Amino acid sequence: MHDFYYKKGELYCEQVPVAEIAEQVGTPFYLYSRKTITEHYAKLAKAFRSANPLICFSMKSNSNLAFLATLIREGAGLDIVSGGELYRALNAGCPPEKIVYAGVGKTKAEIAQAIDAGILLFNVESIPELETIDAIARSKRKVVNVSLRINPDIDPKTHRHITTGKKGTKFGIDFQTAFEIYLERGDLPNLNIAGIHVHIGSQITSGEPFVKALKKVLDFIKALEKEKIRIQYLNLGGGLAAVYHEEKPQRADQYAAKILPLIRKTRFADRKRRQGMLIFEPGRFIAANSGIFVTSVLYVKKTREKNFIIVDGGMNDLIRPALYDAYHEIVPVREHEKTSTVMLSDVVGPICESGDFLGTGRKLPSGLNSGDLLAVFGAGAYGFTMASQYNSRPRPPEVMASGRYFEVVRTRETYRDLIRGERPPIF
Ligand code: LLP
Repeated sequence: MHDFYYKKGELYCEQVPVAEIAEQVGTPFYLYSRKTITEHYAKLAKAFRSANPLICFSMKSNSNLAFLATLIREGAGLDIVSGGELYRALNAGCPPEKIVYAGVGKTKAEIAQAIDAGILLFNVESIPELETIDAIARSKRKVVNVSLRINPDIDPKTHRHITTGKKGTKFGIDFQTAFEIYLERGDLPNLNIAGIHVHIGSQITSGEPFVKALKKVLDFIKALEKEKIRIQYLNLGGGLAAVYHEEKPQRADQYAAKILPLIRKTRFADRKRRQGMLIFEPGRFIAANSGIFVTSVLYVKKTREKNFIIVDGGMNDLIRPALYDAYHEIVPVREHEKTSTVMLSDVVGPICESGDFLGTGRKLPSGLNSGDLLAVFGAGAYGFTMASQYNSRPRPPEVMASGRYFEVVRTRETYRDLIRGERPPIF
């Protein structure tokens, strides 16, 4: 599942002792395994090999240039949601014809930049957005590819903050409205409305919601075909779950075994032969277990009620526990004697909020002391990308290991970075 493991009581990332990296770069920091990244990508690519899909890594989960470049080299495209992500994608060397652009609130400037860059297509979420893209394309004398993001009204049975394909969320367009748009697409001459996009949510552990959504979409495609409307791009979004704790999500091959039979008779069964393109936008599935967050113990505070392990990484570095009550495994970087006693502890950061925890009620060795290192697992997705400078804390560095080597792929921010662009008022 990943390349973080213990050898002789020490945590390694690939062949590098994590403690050695901590010594050189200081704590806290994010650490990614290049091998895990490529292997997770390969699992999905292999499972769907017969369809030869375009796998656009959802870079909101991890947008570090080294992380992106690693995937791009394997053949991945990118799923972007902003002008900033487009900028990063191009800087990481992503071919524009492998970029898909989603999001409910694209600005005119962002749309213009994406058209100029020559991205593959826009995943469009509303009629006014369609009209805006059409007008901008016309001013540039271009015709651009568009997929309609459908809201299929499916409950993915995940956290409500990451449920996106249900009625009442801000995402996508209902089937009826979408049908009318396809019928009247002649009114938007600078758009090639040729695709369908669905993304129903994130951290979805079973295949059933995906299957339900796909069946609805395939019925819709059939209805369109009766009207002689041909869909060229079928984008099934992301959402595949990662393992954080005890969940047993479907594997890539199990997911493929559910999806592939449904599309066998369609033009999406094989990109090369039938000229229909299947697209995926996985984020977490590839990134989550490719990264850990490493932090040092500052103090062990024992109170009458509880033990607190106060560490130098906080909710500003990794917000998922505070924001979603998300569970991330926390382990000591140097294993303690098997015989050592454990204490139930909350692992908390230095931020001035009670929500600032990385884990609560964890069994950790009672011998933990100031200076000991802890590793927080599953931190490769929505970890650094959601980090902030709250409490004026510089954001941590990102490190990538590959075999026996490691490299800082984003340096630790400095106090200067904290005040960049600010100045006292002149009035
Ligand atoms: N495609 C679209 C259009 C999306 O909005 C997302 C995620 C993805 C793909 C990738 O989903 P994934 O494969 O990673 O599940 N910050 C939250 C997750 C928010 C997901 C937003 N959209 C978290 O930390 O759990």
